Amino acid sequence: MTSFPDAFLWGAATSAYQIEGSPDADGRGRSVWDSFVERPGAVEGGGDARIACDSYRRWQDDIDILSELGIKAYRFSLAWSRIMPDGRGRANPHGLDHYDRMIDELRRRGIEPIVTLNHWDMPEALLADGGWIGRGSVDAFVEYAVAASDRLGDRVDWWITQNEPWIIQLLGYQLGLHAPGIRDLRGAVTAGHHVLLAHGKAVDAMRSSTSGRIGAALNLLPCVPATASAEDAAAAWGSDGYVNRWFLDPLLRDGYPDDMRAHWERATGAPLDDVIRPGDEAAIAGRSDFLGINFYTHRVMAAAEPGPDRPFPWQVVGSTGEVERTDEGTEIVPDALRDLLIRVHRDYPGVPLMITENGAISGDSPTHDGQVHDVRRTRYLRAHVAAMAEALEAGVPLVGYTHWSLLDNFEWALGYRPRFGLVYVDFRTGERIIKDSARDYARIVRDGGLAAPERARGPQVDSLGAFG
Ligand code: FCB
Repeated sequence: MTSFPDAFLWGAATSAYQIEGSPDADGRGRSVWDSFVERPGAVEGGGDARIACDSYRRWQDDIDILSELGIKAYRFSLAWSRIMPDGRGRANPHGLDHYDRMIDELRRRGIEPIVTLNHWDMPEALLADGGWIGRGSVDAFVEYAVAASDRLGDRVDWWITQNEPWIIQLLGYQLGLHAPGIRDLRGAVTAGHHVLLAHGKAVDAMRSSTSGRIGAALNLLPCVPATASAEDAAAAWGSDGYVNRWFLDPLLRDGYPDDMRAHWERATGAPLDDVIRPGDEAAIAGRSDFLGINFYTHRVMAAAEPGPDRPFPWQVVGSTGEVERTDEGTEIVPDALRDLLIRVHRDYPGVPLMITENGAISGDSPTHDGQVHDVRRTRYLRAHVAAMAEALEAGVPLVGYTHWSLLDNFEWALGYRPRFGLVYVDFRTGERIIKDSARDYARIVRDGGLAAPERARGPQVDSLGAFG
């Protein structure tokens, strides 16, 4: 038996926009995603999230499923525009009521709520000031965080302020593939900075109404050189600065890394002093009680000449050898999770770590027996649990794991095609079907780890039926 602490938070994760639907209920305002999905071509298949998993109405069904599976923690997000419909000023009590009820019910069932504040659905009204590019976004976020914490803070022990600042910056403001669909390199680095600054200021402001632990969730991608050349090693380190250290260093050390700051200043043609103002780095540093890590894969990097579509001197090339991949081609590298956890603990000691997302697309749907036999998701999950066990054995202070995702859901610009859920959702009827992977996970949760580590990297297919 691998040794996970008794208090380990075995959980599952979702986010509001991806599951809730009911965009007009109870005084919700519009979010940046509501208008983004209306742009022709923005979402594969042309879908929107007006219904999604219908979880705003079916939230009790979701909690029933968590409870049936014995899952101990539920990471979900509050819809920012339900609570601050106009972006600033008035908080909407009806939006808060919804989450109040959910949190009470989770607690009643013995499920730990892990609450994310910004899972990308910023109120549309804040776009008037440039969204995250505008410095006013920082105060707007603090107002929202305080409204949430004033109302819910007595019952929430785990808060995540921001989900994946790098993805907000990259897809929302650099490449324009996510809301608000802006393509502006300097705007992107500015937006990312404001996301972090908002984290720091929100943490300070929330302390008076909650004694819960407050952190941010970063999507970290270990960057591996494609070859043994010095150029590729530099490319991997540069990319590590872009994706990982640019966020880790200010949150968990004392400011942005110089090497990456120089890359940004070169690529955007000007110093960043007007963006990163005196006092900003001090307002971000040293405030996180834990770090959330979203882990999916790694990046294999090679040196490359910068060009119009390549601001930095590196590119992702992928692995050349045999590597297992998900349905979408994402490389499955659980050992990289173990190594990443050990590295983060070594470079930023003293901070508890939580895997706030980890999961895989696997398109399985119900077969003749009405069940979903998603063998590959089971294998993926077990391999990553084994990697976490190895990290724990190496001394990493890992406190929890919330699998992405509890439910098949609206996968942003990719629409409904990619299925990440432990639970299948029929998007026409809203029906939920617990997949085999969820039953296997339930057993891991019950046992507090993998009972037979030798099976960690590949369960026998016929063993899956045994606990259905
Ligand atoms: C992460 C997001 C999450 C989901 C997964 C697949 O980047 O945080 O909402 O889209 O990827």
